Amino acid sequence: MSVPFFALSIGVTMLNIKNISPFYALFLPFFLNNAIGLVSATDKVPLHHVSAKDCKTCHEEIYSQWKGSMHANSTALKDPIHGTFYKAVIGDPKEEGINKNGKYPVCLQCHAPAAAIDGKTDLTSMEVYNEGINCVACHTISKFIGTKKAEGGLRLGTQAYEFSDSSLQGPGTNHTEADWQHPLFENSANPDVFKTSAICMGCHDQRKNSNKVALCQTGDEIASSGGSNNCLSCHMPVVNGKIDHSLLGGHSAKMVSKGLLMTMATTKENKKLNVTLKLTNQLPHSFPTGAPFRNVYVKITGYDKNGKEVWTSSQSHPLKDDKKAMFMYSLGDEEGNPAPPPKATKVLGDTRLKPHETRKLLYSLPKKKITKLRAVAYYDLLLPPMKNKFSEPEHKDLVTSKVIAVTENIIN
Ligand code: HEC
Ligand code: HEC
Ligand code: HEC
Ligand code: HEC
Ligand code: HEC
Repeated sequence: MSVPFFALSIGVTMLNIKNISPFYALFLPFFLNNAIGLVSATDKVPLHHVSAKDCKTCHEEIYSQWKGSMHANSTALKDPIHGTFYKAVIGDPKEEGINKNGKYPVCLQCHAPAAAIDGKTDLTSMEVYNEGINCVACHTISKFIGTKKAEGGLRLGTQAYEFSDSSLQGPGTNHTEADWQHPLFENSANPDVFKTSAICMGCHDQRKNSNKVALCQTGDEIASSGGSNNCLSCHMPVVNGKIDHSLLGGHSAKMVSKGLLMTMATTKENKKLNVTLKLTNQLPHSFPTGAPFRNVYVKITGYDKNGKEVWTSSQSHPLKDDKKAMFMYSLGDEEGNPAPPPKATKVLGDTRLKPHETRKLLYSLPKKKITKLRAVAYYDLLLPPMKNKFSEPEHKDLVTSKVIAVTENIIN
């Protein structure tokens, strides 16, 4: 890219970039390919308008971890599950001026923070809006002010934080000099926010629908567990000396499997097998946590000596025929019928494993020809009835139950 030097230096002052070293200045057009485009605007470009692509040049590995995360795919135009609900409850994510009962759509406070800061609803009007929870959405958070308002009600997402639009915020731990300076941006070391759960809580503490029914409540779950509660220790571990930014959760079966320990014990009694299946939640939040439709179920199958299936704990789905093996949060209406999250007026039940809970499931079955029992735990992003909304082939992965734990007993 060829940018005349005078344009470059205007860009430098406008972007809040400080006395930059000559080395980086030389390569600035290359580093800031994206932001330079923005500089033609007459106003100073605030940090929350700086694209993740402008961080990529120097932080390539972190960028590619982030790019594959749900944080980079959180908007209604990128996440098909969120998008389906957003369009149904709020409206068109490509339209400006959308409101819900006269109010700015609350979803954007967490799912598209840059748009929320600007009070905009057309997510195509600026690249950073559709980047979701991008680098600067987190790295400009200067303070967590809490989600609970003194007068009642909640501050959600960007409303729960103070932002610094001129100085990049970070943990300040990976360098020894107290006066370390970021090569491109003004920066502040802010360990109170970046070494604690504070950085996550504005968006992950809790959320209620318009009927005040709790939907997501990871923060409350952790508060009630009283255990070790730093989200970063599990969700942003240090890998090869660098902070991992993949932020894995429900969309990664491998991550989900880390939360559950499952063991099976079998005893023979006359012509019966008594089975005790033990499930332990290893986490300080519910298992599964998060969106209200996340769920886990277990099926046990008995095989004869030829490997043929001769018994099963559930013929169709545990939701129908083995409810004790179904770990879910159920929302409904006053009559006790199931209702989707935006419409629910009541919590009908919560059979998810509580923080650090161990639950035993007991089965008694005829021994007959059984020589092997196999228990399999599955995780689903969506409840079975909701899966119908995502029947297109490109959504196959979203509706496929994922194996998260397996245990087998040989019977003789
Ligand atoms: C969800 C919030 C969040 C997002 C999004 C995010 N970061 Fe971070 N980042 C953090 C936190 C928290 C830490 C510090 C963690 C710690 O020190 O334990 C951190 C640390 C870092 C560090 C220091 C790494 C180290 O090893 O010391 C760099 C560099 C960084 N982030 C760059 C980026 C870039 C570039 C992006 C976008 C591609 C990005 N971050 C997106 C929250 C975030
Ligand atoms: C010109 C190269 C360059 C660009 C572009 C760049 N950085 Fe950095 N950044 C560095 C270097 C070098 C370090 C120090 C080594 C490290 O931590 O990786 C650093 C460190 C950081 C840290 C750690 C600060 C701390 O407190 O420990 C954060 C956070 C960070 N960068 C965020 C970003 C974000 C967000 C962007 C995009 C808006 C960005 N950087 C763009 C070169 C760059
Ligand atoms: C600005 C708001 C915001 C902040 C800050 C934030 N998140 Fe998120 N996070 C979200 C949203 C929104 C989603 C859901 C994206 C989607 O699925 O559409 C999400 C998704 C996730 C997921 C689920 C991934 C999956 O596979 O479904 C995990 C895990 C997560 N965040 C952890 C964290 C942690 C840990 C922190 C603090 C370091 C953090 N987040 C900070 C808004 C935020
Ligand atoms: C001991 C490790 C550990 C700690 C500490 C921890 N988590 Fe998790 N988290 C996990 C594992 C494992 C999963 C996957 C299983 C599940 O979804 O419950 C997960 C899942 C999640 C999800 C995914 C939900 C979804 O809908 O996909 C979110 C969001 C999340 N955690 C947020 C947090 C926040 C916020 C904190 C801190 C307040 C935190 N976690 C602390 C291990 C941990
Ligand atoms: C307080 C922050 C916050 C607000 C406000 C918010 N969400 Fe979310 N949303 C999240 C987080 C965090 C996740 C993912 C992790 C979890 O499940 O807790 C999520 C996940 C989702 C999911 C599941 C996405 C997936 O990939 O499975 C849907 C659907 C969703 N939100 C819809 C909405 C809609 C529609 C609105 C507005 C009416 C909204 N959200 C408002 C924070 C928020």
